Amino acid sequence: MARVISILNIKGGVGKSTISFNLAHAIQRNNKRVLLVDLDMQCNLTDMCVPEPERITYSVYDLLTNEDFLPTNAVYKTVVQGVDIIPADLRLFEVEQVINPLTNPAAMLMLRNRLAVGLHDSYDYIIIDCRPEISLLTMNALIASDHYMVPVLCDRHSVRGIDMTDSYVKSAKRVNPNLQEIGIVINALDRRKTNAMTIYNYLRKKLNERIMETVVGTNAAIETAATHQQTIFQYDARQPGVRYFKQLAAEVMRKCGDPIAVEDAGDGEAEEN
Ligand SMILES: Nc1ncnc2c1ncn2[C@@H]1O[C@H](COP(=O)(O)OP(=O)(O)OP(=O)(O)O)[C@@H](O)[C@H]1O
Ligand SMILES: [Mg+2]
Repeated sequence: MARVISILNIKGGVGKSTISFNLAHAIQRNNKRVLLVDLDMQCNLTDMCVPEPERITYSVYDLLTNEDFLPTNAVYKTVVQGVDIIPADLRLFEVEQVINPLTNPAAMLMLRNRLAVGLHDSYDYIIIDCRPEISLLTMNALIASDHYMVPVLCDRHSVRGIDMTDSYVKSAKRVNPNLQEIGIVINALDRRKTNAMTIYNYLRKKLNERIMETVVGTNAAIETAATHQQTIFQYDARQPGVRYFKQLAAEVMRKCGDPIAVEDAGDGEAEEN
């Protein structure tokens, strides 16, 4: 039975899609089967990891809007062996017109119900990349999930993003009381920047145990890799990003009750960039 994790922040541009992609590969390296779900009609995650996006016929839209559609028909291979994806497409813009939560009480449960058909049993982890918005799609993600993780940047908007995300999660927990936070993961930290370090220290102090031990430092190669449809592991194994994501996978898996052997968990360096 797969563990389902939403990658969520109501604030945009914090690294949700980048983390979904690289974390999926980092977890797969521990011999786990991983399914990504792209819930963002911008399709950033889909573009990052589907080799020939023009050959995509079905997407998560079909899964959500058509109960006769077989969910496994929307599963595509990614550039990482052992990581599959249910892609997004532009039709997600109109999903609320088709499954209207005001007239259809099951609208919020669609993703959860559909993942149960042939997908839960085929994967160890399902990672859902959310769009930065309060919407039926994001609510579907949180109701389908066992866990969620919140990437943040150490900038002046981060605290507000966390607050907004917290209150949204609170409402999702009314429907899915088992939803658990893995943690807040600091992303793209540049330790040379005083402002970023001030916010980093503030967040650590204010939210202490909610902040994950792993800090994903800024690493330009992570961005370059994605533009080449590669994870950091495929792009250049010597990059610091490899260490960040090995460590992040180890921490995520441990917090999901699925710990890996210490020797696989990276090179033991904690959170240094
Ligand atoms: N650790 C990192 N180091 C360097 N660049 C990064 C890092 N993480 C993310 N980026 C870059 O930051 C930008 C935003 O990342 P991404 O698209 O993953 O954010 P997002 O939260 O998914 O955005 P949106 O809210 O629009 O969906 C991208 O250009 C990405 O390559
Ligand atoms: Mg994104």
